[in-house]
Amino acid sequence: YTEEELYRPNFHFTPKKAWMNDPNGMFYYNGYYHLYFQYHPDGNVWGPMHWGHATSTDMISWVEQPIAIYPDELGTIFSGSAVVDIGNTSGFGEVSKAAPIVAMYTNHLDKGDDNISQTQSIAYSNDEGKTFAKFENNPVIDANLKDFRDPKVTWDEERNKWVMVLAAGDKIMFYDSNNLKNWNLLSEFQKEKGSKDGVWECPDLFNLPVVGTDESKWVLFVSIGKGGPNGGSATEYFIGDFDGTTFTMDKDFETSRNKENNYWIDFGRDNYAGVSWSNARRKDGSKLIIGWMSNWDYAQKVPTETWRSAMTIAREVKLQKDDNGYKLLFNPVKELANYRSKKYKNENIEVKGDTKIIDSESIDLASVEIKFNISDLVNDGFTFNLTNKLGDTLAFGYNSTDKNFFVDRRKSGKVKFSENFANEISVAKRTSLSTNISGTIILDKTSIELFFNNGETVMTEVFFPNAPFEKLSIEPKAQEFILGSIEMNKLNFN
Ligand code: FRU
Repeated sequence: YTEEELYRPNFHFTPKKAWMNDPNGMFYYNGYYHLYFQYHPDGNVWGPMHWGHATSTDMISWVEQPIAIYPDELGTIFSGSAVVDIGNTSGFGEVSKAAPIVAMYTNHLDKGDDNISQTQSIAYSNDEGKTFAKFENNPVIDANLKDFRDPKVTWDEERNKWVMVLAAGDKIMFYDSNNLKNWNLLSEFQKEKGSKDGVWECPDLFNLPVVGTDESKWVLFVSIGKGGPNGGSATEYFIGDFDGTTFTMDKDFETSRNKENNYWIDFGRDNYAGVSWSNARRKDGSKLIIGWMSNWDYAQKVPTETWRSAMTIAREVKLQKDDNGYKLLFNPVKELANYRSKKYKNENIEVKGDTKIIDSESIDLASVEIKFNISDLVNDGFTFNLTNKLGDTLAFGYNSTDKNFFVDRRKSGKVKFSENFANEISVAKRTSLSTNISGTIILDKTSIELFFNNGETVMTEVFFPNAPFEKLSIEPKAQEFILGSIEMNKLNFN
């Protein structure tokens, strides 16, 4: 292996070359999921931003497309969103052609001497998202602010209008529009309500049905530059109501949020700036999201040279209400199951004092989905170890003493490229009310995504072992226990 190929994921999206950060402009239309992304085609660190582009029929296998939006005299192209303007409200559509796709993004202009302007512009596509023409009257919003970015547009079905949220440093601003060109400021949602650290970035706003009820609620995502649950950048969420003007946090949600800072879309260190696909929902109302699988703490230093950063696996988002109140559930999109090939399954494995090797019958641990269930362990804990011949270990599991799930990548291989990368074990409080611990583990060459208890607690982390991991074992924290079931599905992408 060259180092480049050793570390390039098997099935997570990466650009063929150069630097990538946030997912942008995702929409679904005519059988294709589109994913644009913050892209610096001329370097392996952040630089003048473009919108790169990729398409997929299932959000798993991606085909990279030519760059979709280039910088112009108004600035470079920061994060934003895109919508399918089915009713041609913008007038950008052409008779007898597909619906216009309208992208809204931030123009970032650095005039030197710390003089930065961020304004909002739009561009439209009459070829289903392949190429974009910029609107002649850009920018469409200029508030003379420095941190003023990442517009996310959504169609408000109830009120028949476009609603847009954007991040202005220490608040989210809400706008509406009838034509995507003229925007009215509606209200603001202040940072005091949420995480206090870092600049607010990349918001999203959408409604979701509450599973098993007729109720629906609005969800607000906010990404924060630093101050995530395990350090660095992360994405938090709020549940509430939106009346067409103002987003109000649900009272009970606010109370429990204030008690426990527990509302992150992911507790691992590598899921940032995630937002949802527009014009795409499951039959049950679930939304679909994807995030950037890195962290500003060290993203520009990870040990790959010709390309940098991957996206997470796409996820379905549901809203659940139980005795703990409202909570989002995140799980890998069901399309991943179409790639299952060879299966290994075992039940009732006794895990005693010693480490138990899970004999996976040589299923490649760099392209696998693992599901496990432990029904008698809520009072103790366990550790899974992923190891290679060179002694690198990625450890993850559950610690009953502090009731935390954890991922420990301190000895996972190359970790010294940044002192922020593997300084501590990442943890996430177990909040599930169920008596068992179950999980889905998605392993690629350089990433782990853990979905505990039906997606109530999620942890995503990247790692860079000196050789591929090839063994999986499990050990008890103290007591012996029964690993109720473990199933491993090799994922085949050929
Ligand atoms: C988030 C972010 C956005 C911005 C983009 C620039 O990672 O800082 O706020 O639009 O990256 O690349």
